[in-house]
Amino acid sequence: MRSQHRPDRPAHGRGPPVRDKRRPPQMESPPLNKVVLAYSGGLDTSVAVAWLRERYDVEVVTLTVDVGGGSLRPGAAGRAISAGASRAYVVDARRQFVEGFVWPALQAGALYQDAYPLATALARPLIAQLLVEVAQAEGADAVAHGCTGKGNDQVRFDVAVKALDGRLEVIAPMRVGMGMSRDQEIDYAIERGIDIPVSHASPYSIDVNLWGRSVETGVLEDPWAAPPADAYAWTVAPEAAPPAVELTIGFEGGLPVSLDGRALDPVALVEGLNELAGGHGVGRIDHVEDRLVGIKSREVYEAPAAVVLHAAHRALEGLTLSKDQIRFGRVVAGEMAQATYDGLWFTRLQRGLREYARSTQGVVSGEVRVRLDHGSAVVAGRRSPNSLYDRALATYDEGDAFDHASAVGFISIFGLPLRTEAGRERASAAPTRLLSEVPVEVVDQEAEPVVVGA
Ligand code: ARG
Repeated sequence: MRSQHRPDRPAHGRGPPVRDKRRPPQMESPPLNKVVLAYSGGLDTSVAVAWLRERYDVEVVTLTVDVGGGSLRPGAAGRAISAGASRAYVVDARRQFVEGFVWPALQAGALYQDAYPLATALARPLIAQLLVEVAQAEGADAVAHGCTGKGNDQVRFDVAVKALDGRLEVIAPMRVGMGMSRDQEIDYAIERGIDIPVSHASPYSIDVNLWGRSVETGVLEDPWAAPPADAYAWTVAPEAAPPAVELTIGFEGGLPVSLDGRALDPVALVEGLNELAGGHGVGRIDHVEDRLVGIKSREVYEAPAAVVLHAAHRALEGLTLSKDQIRFGRVVAGEMAQATYDGLWFTRLQRGLREYARSTQGVVSGEVRVRLDHGSAVVAGRRSPNSLYDRALATYDEGDAFDHASAVGFISIFGLPLRTEAGRERASAAPTRLLSEVPVEVVDQEAEPVVVGA
């Protein structure tokens, strides 16, 4: 029997096959049959399985996506079934996540507000796409996710799902009345025989995938308070790191392909680098960021591989791209970071930005040496068969091929607009008197030093 009472159900749901556009929006939409829930295997989404069934009288199918970094909790599928799911999908999307989402962001150099490598933001469109595909395969009429009403992730899921299949409804139990305290959730789960995940209550809200670990809430909400040691799980404290090491990263077409000469597939490379660089305290990011929903929020990230790879990639671009490509690339990176952060992955603009960035990367091949030293990743050297760096032009030593005399004519033309402008301003502007404001020592040929001026 279906419940007729669904106060929080949006009225603009999936319509009948041929939808009557004149139907007033507040009319009762058809009952839901099946919903596909993005299921992490944690307590919140386990409770959400049962809550959705009870609230909407609907069949629940769960989808758990392994995006690396420990995001796949052991026993997730069994727990979903214990919570009442009729079917539990578990998908290993690590390779597709790196190749389809992380690599384009790396090639573009996309960091939100110059700091956050976008780990969580990059995984959301992938999970949304899988939710839609499972919903279509299952003939479901809705998808659901466990996001709250004040974060970015709800926006990312909602807009991506609607972009990919506008007929699907999106339900976020946390936004429509499921709000329970942790203790209430535990009681709710026990009453229903739901297998409770074995994890102690974390003081933080954490999201992980192989591109990074995002940590928020708790004591971190005071932006003046230093993050406590327990906020970190992937990185050692920089002061406790072992002696510095140097690492060589090989790139082909703007993508990392090897570590210290050892070819690695994308997933192994990122996971290996997280381990290595995290072990040297590299990758901690403490950031006050601007959420899409309009609030400033203090976030702590651990992203060892992302920090190292962005630094190395930028260094190799410095050697192989033109000055103008680099400057314009910064604009593209900023736009791409914003659109990714804002959940607009599936827009034409985003696709165009990705395609532009990729089009520049053919020459970004070579090697970068990076020193991992107590929390810092510093580029120590770079080389490329496609380098634009010409030692004969750059050198101050013998063999200098640069035409010094031609600099005179170049500077004359280059400086022409400034001279023209200065000529106009000299007539009106008061001359600056810097010399009268600084201590000056003057030495004459045959006299003791005298001090003049201030
Ligand atoms: N602030 C980051 C973002 O919006 C990370 C959010 C991660 N969620 C969490 N529960 N820690 O992309």
